[in-house]
Amino acid sequence: MKTIIAASLLAADFAYLADNIKRAEKSGADWIHYDVMDGMFVRNISFGEPVLKSVSKLITLPVDAHLMIMDPIRYIDNYADLGVNGITFHFEAASDTQTVIDKIRSRNLRAGLSVKPATPVSMIIPYLHSVDMVLVMTVEPGFGGQVFLPETLHKVKELRKYIDDNKLDVIIQVDGGINKETSAMVRECGADVLVSGSYIFNAEDMSEAVRSLR
Ligand code: DX5
Ligand code: ZN
Repeated sequence: MKTIIAASLLAADFAYLADNIKRAEKSGADWIHYDVMDGMFVRNISFGEPVLKSVSKLITLPVDAHLMIMDPIRYIDNYADLGVNGITFHFEAASDTQTVIDKIRSRNLRAGLSVKPATPVSMIIPYLHSVDMVLVMTVEPGFGGQVFLPETLHKVKELRKYIDDNKLDVIIQVDGGINKETSAMVRECGADVLVSGSYIFNAEDMSEAVRSLR
């Protein structure tokens, strides 16, 4: 499968959000990645529903909402109503993982399950038969512009093997510190979707940066 590149809006200059969305859409990126942070599950607070409501008028690419919020079940309907294509939530933030997955899928959206760097893959194996995507965080969630953690690579490899051995229809996404060098490492380990924020938004030529990730 062709590597999917998701542009993380967290790295955009919010004073020029519309321009940055257009830039991302023209760059050859495949998805828009929308990071929602609640100041509880992660220390940072990013943006939420009102901003998405406005910018979704401009976005033509599929939107994947990455919910870094406690008790995500509370927000699934709201994001589904805003027209996102997929919702990814954190294993560590939900009390009933299966209920959240079922809720996302009941809205006909791609359901993604994410793990922080310290959470072992074994914890999410039981849910792999019912999700569409897994997201391996390759930095601690909460901030853009961090350095990639190479100790997360074995998790991508482990998931790739499990998914292939069991012929599951699950795609593997990675998020955090993805650039020209680290993209080669995660692709090698079997990642299908690469989220990139600061590397592509800070590039002089965003199209060239996106191409360099594939
Ligand atoms: C971090 C977010 C990421 C972030 C990635 O918690 O989930 O999506 O925007 O940013 P970079 O690519 O700058 O590491
Ligand atoms: Zn993210």
